[in-house]
Amino acid sequence: MSQTCLLCVALLVVAMATGGRAVGVNWGKMATHRLPPKKVLKMLVENGFDKVKLFDADSDMLEALTGTDIEVMVGIPNYMLEEVSIDQQRAADWVDENVTSWRYTGGVNIKYVAVGNEPLLRAYGGNYSRPTLRALKKIQKALDDSGLGSHVKATVPFNADIYTSPGPHPVPSAGHFQPETRETVLKILAVLSENNAPFVVNIHPFLSAYGDKYFPVDFAFFGVAKTRVSDGEAVYTNVLDASFDTLVWSLRKAGYPDMPIIIGEIGWPTDGDKNANVKMAKEFNQGLLRHVTGGKGTPARNGSMEVYLFSLMDEDDKSIAPGPFERHWGIFEFDGKPKYGLDLSGHGGDTNLVNVEGVDYLPRRWCILDPAATDLTDLNDSVNYACSFSDCTSMGYGSSCNHLDLHGNASYAFNMYYQVKNQEAGACVFSDLAVVIDRDPSDDKCRFPVMIAYGSLAAAQGKTIDLVVAVMGGMATLLFLLLREARVA
Ligand SMILES: *[C@@H]1O[C@H](CO)[C@@H](O)[C@H](O)[C@H]1NC(C)=O
Ligand SMILES: *[C@@H]1O[C@H](CO)[C@@H](O)[C@H](O)[C@H]1NC(C)=O
Ligand SMILES: *[C@@H]1O[C@H](CO)[C@@H](O)[C@H](O)[C@H]1NC(C)=O
Ligand SMILES: *[C@@H]1O[C@H](CO)[C@@H](O)[C@H](O)[C@H]1NC(C)=O
Ligand SMILES: *[C@@H]1O[C@H](CO)[C@@H](O)[C@H](O)[C@H]1NC(C)=O
Repeated sequence: MSQTCLLCVALLVVAMATGGRAVGVNWGKMATHRLPPKKVLKMLVENGFDKVKLFDADSDMLEALTGTDIEVMVGIPNYMLEEVSIDQQRAADWVDENVTSWRYTGGVNIKYVAVGNEPLLRAYGGNYSRPTLRALKKIQKALDDSGLGSHVKATVPFNADIYTSPGPHPVPSAGHFQPETRETVLKILAVLSENNAPFVVNIHPFLSAYGDKYFPVDFAFFGVAKTRVSDGEAVYTNVLDASFDTLVWSLRKAGYPDMPIIIGEIGWPTDGDKNANVKMAKEFNQGLLRHVTGGKGTPARNGSMEVYLFSLMDEDDKSIAPGPFERHWGIFEFDGKPKYGLDLSGHGGDTNLVNVEGVDYLPRRWCILDPAATDLTDLNDSVNYACSFSDCTSMGYGSSCNHLDLHGNASYAFNMYYQVKNQEAGACVFSDLAVVIDRDPSDDKCRFPVMIAYGSLAAAQGKTIDLVVAVMGGMATLLFLLLREARVA
């Protein structure tokens, strides 16, 4: 048998072992009320997700993952980087508690440690550059020392604006690493390469559209785009491939033509912006899955792409600095119900996802503005107060509840507050303007939720201003340039 065919067989075996799938998902936890990880896990298994990416090393989540084959990427939040980077013993302690102790036979299939989350974002002013590099080295050494080095790789999930393509002909083949972070990136690449670790990058086509009103939205999707960018022989019809190949070219020029690339985050939100809705999210994610599992790859790199969808469920406690859509990236609602059908195999069949089963809810009741209320002097203050402690992101321009009238707006805000406060009696007062009702005030577009009955467990995930900056950063610049080019062409 020729070498080439041995390779075919090897690839076939890998494809069969993964059921032909390469779909991961980001499982965050910045919600005021969190479903029990064991219930979520059952749903993940039933739907056939075979990889999850966490933002820390939450012991309840790892406990739930115990005994499954699901590949896990655990994370070291940015705020811990400095601490872990200072001495080898500290890094070893992190690895002992958060990797080694879970990686026994029948334990958790931890495969990667994400050192930081987009630590080179401009917003951080370079503050995480040195800690990231040092922590990466120390964590990999700790993994090696504990005998796990060949199975568990330390890596860094990067924001896509660390690479760019310059004008006046901004094409992927002109891609290179940005000067501001280049030195750090090159040092990190050397460490990744030495350890056979993959490069991880978060690519967000939604933000290209959000950040630039001239961005042709069709170029974010995987259909027949009117927008095309030619680069020598290659023709790009979607921004993911263009961005991915800009990275491939940047890596080639840096001397790492074969470094494996994992897309750490990619997805589409369903609310909080005019381009954020179920229809577009379904179209994007289904197109993405078809594209990445198709095995064709991009003009610059053949083969399936490994992706982690962003994200699993809506998280109502995330910072909305990036935009109101930030709490609506979930493929599932906060209560584990799928928002739309999605065929994870990539074939695009009309497959329904399985929901989280046995979810407990608070009683079916809602807090609204008393229809009999007449003195509305304090109403605006009350609405502002309610919204500052709860999630009103569905009320804004382009969002699912933006059509409500003044009464509807106040009721929506009161209810969000009431639910986030676990329906406490004192949470539905608002200067005596509010009443509790047991008839669902939702309409066909705007849903007034009833909260799930699982305490408040919000915890830091370290993903706050990241996305805003990604929009403003080089990726958006690149895309803008690419598109300007496309329009000129
Ligand atoms: C392990 O990870 C958890 C969750 O991120 C963190 O709180 C804890 O400090 C880590 N353990 C060590 C020894 O660093
Ligand atoms: C970086 O760290 C310095 C010193 O601790 C601090 O003053 C500065 O605000 C930080 N910059 C950013 C952007 O966080
Ligand atoms: C991808 O595969 C095709 C067909 O086998 C081949 O012609 C092309 O050169 C490959 N491209 C890369 C970048 O390896
Ligand atoms: C409340 O705010 C809305 C718009 O923000 C305004 O039209 C309305 O007059 C305000 N009502 C009161 C009573 O201040
Ligand atoms: C309801 O609130 C939204 C968001 O604050 C606002 O855009 C809209 O104008 C409000 N509607 C009324 C009738 O006040």
